[in-house]
Amino acid sequence: MATGTAPGKVILFGEHAVVYGRPAIAVPVDGVEACATVRPGEQGSGIWLECCNLPAAEKGREGCYYPIREAPPGDPLCVVVTIGLTHMGMVTPPEPDLIITISSTIPIARGLGSGAAVATAIIRALATYLDYPLSPEETSRLVFEVEKIFHGTPSGIDNTVIAYQQPVYYVRGEPVELLKVSNPFHLVIADSGVASATREVVREVRQHWEVERVRYEALFDGIAAVVRAARESILKGEWRALGPLMNENQALLEELGVSAPALERLLTAARSAGALGAKLSGAGQGGFVIALVEEENIISVSKALERAGATQVLSTCVSSYPTSGSREEEKG
Ligand code: PMV
Repeated sequence: MATGTAPGKVILFGEHAVVYGRPAIAVPVDGVEACATVRPGEQGSGIWLECCNLPAAEKGREGCYYPIREAPPGDPLCVVVTIGLTHMGMVTPPEPDLIITISSTIPIARGLGSGAAVATAIIRALATYLDYPLSPEETSRLVFEVEKIFHGTPSGIDNTVIAYQQPVYYVRGEPVELLKVSNPFHLVIADSGVASATREVVREVRQHWEVERVRYEALFDGIAAVVRAARESILKGEWRALGPLMNENQALLEELGVSAPALERLLTAARSAGALGAKLSGAGQGGFVIALVEEENIISVSKALERAGATQVLSTCVSSYPTSGSREEEKG
């Protein structure tokens, strides 16, 4: 059996502006992950997907154990398997006899990269099972193919940070920069409980940009300046400086029109409880907020966020240690 895993992610700085060619910084989130296993099926059975432990919206259908030949066209998990196998030279028919089991603890439609993580875990498990070495760059490219099918015009930051499993400084179309985090720092990550459809929010921003190009370009430039300053601070190990930069990024996101009262309530609670800075993360209008905290304040800020209505609170330590995301057990 072969296993592949992938972490969640948050965008630390630069969402939306990244779609318009500006830089952004994203980091992996420990403690939540997607996991896929691949094992041999009975001869002639073809490929079966088992996803009973996957949140409903990620499955794309009602049943949770089914052969891919019976899946409706566009079933998201089948798309991932097909893109992965085709890249690895397993052109079907004949279908290989495999059972692929998928699970995930990453909340969906909240900006934590659940779709990209599920795709990455499946592709890693298939690659390990087939002895097909895949670089993070190739994994990222395959997951980007999937993202393009389901998310319209993604910038590519989700697949990049998840496939590399390291903090990244990302500019669309440029080689990825793995960010050296000189001093690790802590984030508290809180769910507003409001679902957010990235595709819709990105479309709305584009509509506003089309009408008010000059203003929106200036806002994107303002965000880019914040992202560059944040990169410098991370490289120098001056992580406390990220707090005011997060607040500045949030103010610019509010001007873009992607914030929401439910998010701002959480941001106020985090800052009042001692967070050094806080902002929404991802597409906005719902989803998660992130707060920069001293280690000793993780619990007090988390509690304040719960009192302010957060439906789930996580924390993560941002550092630059890579993890592999694949393992092989008694490969068959
Ligand atoms: O909600 P998420 O985490 O998928 O983030 C969307 C980030 C955007 O910049 C708004 C879109 C993108 O493709 O980068």
